[in-house]
Amino acid sequence: MNTSEIDLFSSNFQEDPYPAYSHLRQHAPVFRESRYGVYALTRFGDVDAALRDHETFRSGAGPSPMPMPSGGMGAIPILAATDPPHHDQLRALVNHAFTPRRIAASEGRIQSFAQKLASDLPEGDFDLVPGLSVPLPVAVIAEILGVDASDQEDFRRWSAATVGLMDRPPEPAMMQASAELVGYFRARLEERRKSPRDDMISDLLRAEIDGRRLTEAELDAFFIMLLVAGNETTTNWISNQINILAHRPELWKACREDRRLVPIALEEALRFDAPVQNLGRETTRSVEIKGVTIPAGSRVVVSFGSANRDPEIFDEPDSYRLDRGDFRHLAFGQGRHFCLGSGLARLEGRTALNALLDRFERIEPGSKEPQRLHSTVIRGFDALPLCGRSA
Ligand code: HEM
Repeated sequence: MNTSEIDLFSSNFQEDPYPAYSHLRQHAPVFRESRYGVYALTRFGDVDAALRDHETFRSGAGPSPMPMPSGGMGAIPILAATDPPHHDQLRALVNHAFTPRRIAASEGRIQSFAQKLASDLPEGDFDLVPGLSVPLPVAVIAEILGVDASDQEDFRRWSAATVGLMDRPPEPAMMQASAELVGYFRARLEERRKSPRDDMISDLLRAEIDGRRLTEAELDAFFIMLLVAGNETTTNWISNQINILAHRPELWKACREDRRLVPIALEEALRFDAPVQNLGRETTRSVEIKGVTIPAGSRVVVSFGSANRDPEIFDEPDSYRLDRGDFRHLAFGQGRHFCLGSGLARLEGRTALNALLDRFERIEPGSKEPQRLHSTVIRGFDALPLCGRSA
């Protein structure tokens, strides 16, 4: 492999980025790619250090791995695109609504959604993406927010359209989807202002710190972020997890027989095939890493996907193993921006895998080819044909 030929934004790379990560970790751990002139950090230690150093590597210009034109994600005050002190304040406000109590209260409903979706999957061939990976997180977000299940089709559409905002310059369809989403939630906010309920939207309206409440723009951003940060990530985690086990029937059997392996399998899937592969930061000053000077104002890619395969940290990093006992992966990030939804995501992941283990004795790759989702941020599938057998 030739370092100068590596293009982090090409569909070739996105199909299977792991050989390129391995090459970069060894030969160019601080890699200046040529298409956009961004610097990529691929070693665990460098990614971890950059994520902890928000003063040098700021998020305020947006979390995308590529430089964003104005009007992209950087223009929306989502939590992941803010820096302290604004970030601390916003995160504390959002935390008021995103409580473990609110999430625990939904557990029973999440389980019934997952069981229903799994039991509706047919014997034999099916596509997991529309069958379970997409509808489960959408139903969960709708449940937690307290909105009608009948609006889920719209959620799905908006979610699929807005995720592109992280990855490429905004297109009219994406902006249209964000506008529809914002319009929808503004109407729900208005309803809750008039008659508050016991749901997350009402909690968000009530949340207050030092006399400050969320502004209209911050509320809009929160809903966009929930769909982008909460749906696409969890959807693709579920797909990646089941794809791995479909190729490892002995591990499927082991998980079925001993459900204590379920959380271990899920953490190892986060490490092995991280749903969020790459995000971005911007340098506030010139900084030298491994002899390479990154000038101030540069876009820096932090590669969670590569860090999680670093042999300095993980033995046999390219093997998926349930006996690893090491959960130091960076799949949920690190430092101040550590994933706010990790508790909810883990609950969804556990519930989905358990429901599928209950449903199928065996699960195998299907007869059609899977289709990769093409993104530098998210790793997963547009279509994942599988074959399930219950006896
Ligand atoms: C497997 C599923 C998920 C993965 C892999 C994941 C991954 C991540 C990562 C890597 C970050 C750090 C962003 C950064 O450093 O710039 C993050 C932040 C975030 N995630 Fe998740 N996430 C998942 C699920 C969820 C869910 C279900 C929600 C909410 C419903 C959520 C909400 C958030 C929020 C709000 C942030 C921003 C936190 C901040 O900037 O302070 N995530 N997530």
